[in-house]
Amino acid sequence: MMMRGVIFFATICHFFSTTFGGINSHTEDWAYSSDTEGPQFWAYAHPLCNGTKQSPINIIMKETIYNETLTPLVPLNYSTVFNDANYYLANNGHTVKLGIELDTRVPIGLLWRGNEYHYHGLHFHWGENDQHGSEHYFNNQSYALEVHIVHYLKDYGDFNSALNYSDGILVWSSVFQTSNSSETSNTPLQDVFKSIDKIINAENKTYINPLPLSSFVSENSTGSYYHYEGSLTSPECTESVMWIVNHKMISISSNQLLSFRLLKGRLHNSSNSVWFENLTNTDRPTQPINGRKVYTSVLNYPTSNFFNKNLTSGNNSISYLPPILETTQNTTTLCKTIKSSAFLTRTASNLFLSCFILAIDCF
Ligand SMILES: *[C@@H]1O[C@H](CO)[C@@H](O)[C@H](O)[C@H]1NC(C)=O
Ligand SMILES: *[C@@H]1O[C@H](CO)[C@@H](O)[C@H](O)[C@H]1NC(C)=O
Ligand SMILES: *[C@@H]1O[C@H](CO)[C@@H](O)[C@H](O)[C@H]1NC(C)=O
Ligand SMILES: *[C@@H]1O[C@H](CO)[C@@H](O)[C@H](O)[C@H]1NC(C)=O
Ligand SMILES: *[C@@H]1O[C@H](CO)[C@@H](O)[C@H](O)[C@H]1NC(C)=O
Ligand SMILES: *[C@@H]1O[C@H](CO)[C@@H](O)[C@H](O)[C@H]1NC(C)=O
Ligand SMILES: *[C@@H]1O[C@H](CO)[C@@H](O)[C@H](O)[C@H]1NC(C)=O
Ligand SMILES: *[C@@H]1O[C@H](CO)[C@@H](O)[C@H](O)[C@H]1NC(C)=O
Ligand SMILES: *[C@@H]1O[C@H](CO)[C@@H](O)[C@H](O)[C@H]1NC(C)=O
Ligand SMILES: *[C@@H]1O[C@H](CO)[C@@H](O)[C@H](O)[C@H]1NC(C)=O
Ligand SMILES: *[C@@H]1O[C@H](CO)[C@@H](O)[C@H](O)[C@H]1NC(C)=O
Ligand SMILES: *[C@@H]1O[C@H](CO)[C@@H](O)[C@H](O)[C@H]1NC(C)=O
Repeated sequence: MMMRGVIFFATICHFFSTTFGGINSHTEDWAYSSDTEGPQFWAYAHPLCNGTKQSPINIIMKETIYNETLTPLVPLNYSTVFNDANYYLANNGHTVKLGIELDTRVPIGLLWRGNEYHYHGLHFHWGENDQHGSEHYFNNQSYALEVHIVHYLKDYGDFNSALNYSDGILVWSSVFQTSNSSETSNTPLQDVFKSIDKIINAENKTYINPLPLSSFVSENSTGSYYHYEGSLTSPECTESVMWIVNHKMISISSNQLLSFRLLKGRLHNSSNSVWFENLTNTDRPTQPINGRKVYTSVLNYPTSNFFNKNLTSGNNSISYLPPILETTQNTTTLCKTIKSSAFLTRTASNLFLSCFILAIDCF
């Protein structure tokens, strides 16, 4: 028998109708820009936001650790377009969510390290200009936009129950980089970006053409990502998230981003005023790493163990991806390391490394 099932997205953020009046200036409401409700005040009403495993973080590439247990993600129905379903965008007062109303429950999600994670929803983080907006930084740098595709571990039943477990949630994140070249207009996402100006106000919702979830991750990126353990990036800031941050960025044009910056947040009450937030900067500041390890699935210069690892083991999925990001070490320094005899002895027979050395033209 077929039940009518509806997959809802939202509820990462829990709202409270009660407010503190008078003396207490910190409300249970939260916002991105406010002298009483901004990120630095979240912990007063949402104590988990003051935890030690918070997100987002600044990913320093050369401090990431290659880990061969980070096998490729296996998406389930990510490429499927459900033509019978309703796809919508909603402004929930803090961000833009993409929802899918499906008649049947089919598995949409991911297999990762032996666990099945089911899709919960996706939303965006952006900034007032192209120079920041992504919540995760790479080598101290933020980019224009970040999408979070939120999943929960199927065995825990649903999103809210999964929040109770340190591995309950998996967020697959992609960072977007802008350029003004028209070639970088992201065609699959055009319809999504164009519809944002129909949901300027909190609680607005608009239907969009069905599109596959794979539109929100860069092509062939299932095997190249960073992983660390952290939290939701908005209240309640629950520390239950296995983060998967893609190594490859997605290109979009600057123009495609403009409508995000017109969005209005929900009504907030602080001690003496009621106001609508302009949703221009929806990125929480990066949080202390507190000794956590950031792993990478790609054995790649400049990860911390690149030069110490035996690269000759044939079965490793070693692949060289050009560093997408600025690095502190320049080519001169890198070549010096490569030319050092110890390094050459260890790797001389390795075809991959030969290509690498040729590619950066050390000799
Ligand atoms: C957050 O934690 C720090 C250190 O434990 C503490 O000093 C501070 O008062 C806490 N802030 C809130 C809002 O709970
Ligand atoms: C690889 O990751 C797993 C799971 O996070 C961890 O237990 C293991 O210690 C890591 N291995 C290395 C070599 O860091
Ligand atoms: C969704 O995934 C399931 C399991 O992988 C598969 O059986 C089903 O055919 C997929 N549905 C569609 C519409 O592709
Ligand atoms: C990041 O910023 C810190 C502090 O400003 C600096 O010490 C470090 O070298 C920077 N790292 C990179 C990769 O740029
Ligand atoms: C999550 O855990 C709390 C206590 O740790 C419990 O009260 C609550 O019922 C749990 N929620 C779910 C949905 O399992
Ligand atoms: C694109 O153009 C806008 C407006 O001229 C400018 O502010 C922005 O920095 C440009 N972005 C890039 C990536 O060049
Ligand atoms: C959006 O919200 C505003 C203010 O609440 C309302 O007047 C308008 O009808 C809504 N538009 C849509 C498309 O929901
Ligand atoms: C993705 O992989 C396929 C098959 O290996 C390849 O044909 C395609 O060019 C790749 N796309 C990108 C953007 O690397
Ligand atoms: C804000 O406060 C006013 C007056 O106290 C109240 O009427 C209103 O419902 C509150 N709004 C929200 C969104 O809590
Ligand atoms: C919000 O944006 C509107 C229109 O761009 C502007 O008039 C208003 O001053 C902004 N409010 C704040 C608090 O920045
Ligand atoms: C590299 O391989 C050599 C020879 O097989 C072995 O002696 C050495 O311990 C290995 N080093 C590492 C870091 O795995
Ligand atoms: C590269 O880095 C080294 C050491 O930090 C420095 O001496 C050298 O001038 C740099 N070269 C270039 C081309 O920036």
